[in-house]
Amino acid sequence: MAMRRALTSAVKSVTVNSALSSSSFTRNVHGSSGSSKKIVGVFYKANEYASMNPNFVGCVEGSLGIRDWLESQGHEYIVTDDKDGPNSELENHISDLNVLITTPFHPAYVTAERIKNAKNLELLLTAGIGSDHIDLEAAAAAGLTVAEVTGSNVVSVAEDELMRILILVRNFLPGYHQAIQGEWNVAGIAYRACDLEGKTIGTVGAGRIGKLLLQRLKPFNCNLLYHDRIRMDPEMESQTGAKYEEDLVKMLGKCDVVVMNTPLTEKTKGMINKEMISKMKKGVLIVNNARGALMDTQAIVDACSSGHVAGYSGDVWYPQPAPKDHPWRYMPNHAMTPHISGTTIDAQLRYAAGVKDMLDNYFKGEDFPPQNYIVKEGELASQYR
Ligand SMILES: NC(=O)c1ccc[n+]([C@@H]2O[C@H](COP(=O)([O-])OP(=O)(O)OC[C@H]3O[C@@H](n4cnc5c(N)ncnc54)[C@H](O)[C@@H]3O)[C@@H](O)[C@H]2O)c1
Repeated sequence: MAMRRALTSAVKSVTVNSALSSSSFTRNVHGSSGSSKKIVGVFYKANEYASMNPNFVGCVEGSLGIRDWLESQGHEYIVTDDKDGPNSELENHISDLNVLITTPFHPAYVTAERIKNAKNLELLLTAGIGSDHIDLEAAAAAGLTVAEVTGSNVVSVAEDELMRILILVRNFLPGYHQAIQGEWNVAGIAYRACDLEGKTIGTVGAGRIGKLLLQRLKPFNCNLLYHDRIRMDPEMESQTGAKYEEDLVKMLGKCDVVVMNTPLTEKTKGMINKEMISKMKKGVLIVNNARGALMDTQAIVDACSSGHVAGYSGDVWYPQPAPKDHPWRYMPNHAMTPHISGTTIDAQLRYAAGVKDMLDNYFKGEDFPPQNYIVKEGELASQYR
């Protein structure tokens, strides 16, 4: 009951574009009102944590809180965390599902092969932001629609980035480890713990999350820089106090802290490599909650080991879940976590509501809010092209 109430109020807070318009692209995405659909959701499993919070809707057990709603309309709703390999539960349903709901936190990798085998697939919805786990070119070529809940967890991620910046700047983690290991060695922390004030912080990408981070950093009296393929409007620049850096390499050379905030695209994949790191200041700190594959994995390991990068923190890895032997688990000077920043309870309620809204539009043959489309009628959203 409490969950339903929370979800209902979250649903109200999400803008719905109710413009009537139907697409007639290859797989008849918005022209199929009335019929019963097979919908598969792939989420992380919560096990013993599932019953601890009625608003915990982002897990398999919570199923985005939409099971009763879907089944009452005659749709079939299958939910699993078993996503990888030819014998996975997802694979068993690939041949006849109509809608696949995935999430970046426990990504079901939707390859060209899976798309080819999913003959009835029409719609791929991302519960969250970032659809790079889907082969977007293959989805476009197959006439599928890919949409995400744009804006749903941007505050959650920006807040988390601010926390990670402070954790790195203050050299917090060695102090925490001392506390739980019965040690007391102030020098071991203090020799490189700094204030944030006066430091230069640059965000690579200043879209929704990047802007929210800059707004949150403003009261710390830092020098704020941003690089993006598009310059902000002057009002936002003066509100955040951030200076535009057209040349990424030049910006990287000025930063004490670099924060990654671009999507993972063909252009951004592996963009922070050995050469880019060599342009950064020795002792730079890096925060990356955007995507693990923006980084050259080994270049980060090497730079953290040599001390060129004095601290690296983020919640995104490639692949996910990160295998036990992923080198970022073992490199020095890191403050990594599993992929958590965008799946706070508040974020879950917002992306669950957004998925429900889009399914509702889909059943009625209506369009989604335009900013939610990643692939529509054979075209990728502009930043993915
Ligand atoms: N860790 C998490 O839980 C989590 C949650 C949400 C989003 N994310 C990640 O963060 C990314 C950003 O989210 P957002 O909501 O701010 O997206 P957004 O679309 O609002 O902003 C992305 C910005 O990156 C810029 N950009 C794109 N390609 C670029 C390039 N080649 N060079 C320079 N700038 C480029 C765009 O112009 C845009 O301003 C998502 O795509 C996703 O990968 C992570």
